[in-house]
Amino acid sequence: MTRLLILGATGSIGTTALNGIRAGLCPDVSLAGVTASSSPLLEDISREFSVPSAYIDGNDESAVSSFIDRTEPDIILNAISGSAGLPATIASIKKGKDIALANKESVVMGGSFMLSLARSQGVRIIPVDSEHSAIYHLLQGKKASRLIITASGGPFVDRSDLENVTLEEALHHPTWKMGKKITIDSATLANKGLEVMEASLLFSFPPEKIDVTVHRQSIVHSMIETEEGAFYMLASPPDMTLPILLAIKGEGKGLRNIVRPLPLSSALTLTFEGWDKSRFPMLSLAYDALRLGGGYRIAYCRADEATVNAFINGRISFCDIPRIVKAVMECGFPEEEPESYEEIMAIDREAKEKAEALC
Ligand SMILES: NC(=O)c1ccc[n+]([C@@H]2O[C@H](COP(=O)([O-])OP(=O)(O)OC[C@H]3O[C@@H](n4cnc5c(N)ncnc54)[C@H](OP(=O)(O)O)[C@@H]3O)[C@@H](O)[C@H]2O)c1
Repeated sequence: MTRLLILGATGSIGTTALNGIRAGLCPDVSLAGVTASSSPLLEDISREFSVPSAYIDGNDESAVSSFIDRTEPDIILNAISGSAGLPATIASIKKGKDIALANKESVVMGGSFMLSLARSQGVRIIPVDSEHSAIYHLLQGKKASRLIITASGGPFVDRSDLENVTLEEALHHPTWKMGKKITIDSATLANKGLEVMEASLLFSFPPEKIDVTVHRQSIVHSMIETEEGAFYMLASPPDMTLPILLAIKGEGKGLRNIVRPLPLSSALTLTFEGWDKSRFPMLSLAYDALRLGGGYRIAYCRADEATVNAFINGRISFCDIPRIVKAVMECGFPEEEPESYEEIMAIDREAKEKAEALC
């Protein structure tokens, strides 16, 4: 039995993982414990599975550590949203636990510091994001010269004027049902920007070797190109159950029929298009942040989170998100990769304060 602790069990990823367990898709995984921030759903989950639960702020590293001690998991699914996922990831690494990592902000902000801490503790970081899960599996035994990350394009892929976008429109994603923060990030393409940074760090690819292509059907989850010029792609219906369970259990480890087969006997059209730099500046800014260096990645990620919250709370408009993030980045941040957790958190605080002052 693999004992699984889910941090952020009440959210979209947490619920999908729990539904997989409920449906008996991974019979040799047992739940060890669950956490959330404040949702009353947590108590129902705890009762249903007869496991310990706790309301823990991901920023409280010592509370996460104590809950890990209490629940003794083999693997931790970090499904917390936003920057609060990073301290929780650090706590999990320090406890020597493998991590199925949905929280992309942990990688973008924690960068080489977090990844080398994981290496030194012998901890495996297995990506849950469908794009990175695809690349992770495609790279097994192959050498790639380029990564191609697919993007659904979000709700505004065909809309020319984004000035008057409402919250309701931005929360209406065409293919995925997800938490609010990632859904807004998908509408601005900041989510793709975070994913480009995540891929660069996880797979050691420079920004010029990572492309984004708009693939509206969300069936191809990403591709790699080999030096010979061949493209390998991973395709499955848009359902997070597969990448989540693959991260928890691993390929070839008794997982069967996780998603329905693709309907290849009927017409299945797959399209790939470029993305519009002028309408989606958040993706260009992410490439800039990645090229500029560690401090800029943290600033981008934190300024994005602050502005997305402000948009959700009605304090700024949709197009203010990239304007403010750009203004924050123009304040200047360290180009070197932070060498300590304290350095990361100092940049995090500075970017948050600067962004909030502009909201
Ligand atoms: N949803 C997807 O399909 C998807 C796909 C790829 C990657 N991801 C990534 O996975 C992560 C989770 O996304 P999601 O869509 O599942 O988010 P979500 O639906 O908003 O759920 C977030 C979860 O984290 C908890 N949480 C929120 N703030 C917290 C804090 N400060 N401390 C501790 N726990 C906190 C929430 O608890 P409460 O319910 O109590 O607030 C909830 O359980 C994000 O990093 C996202 O980018 C998601």
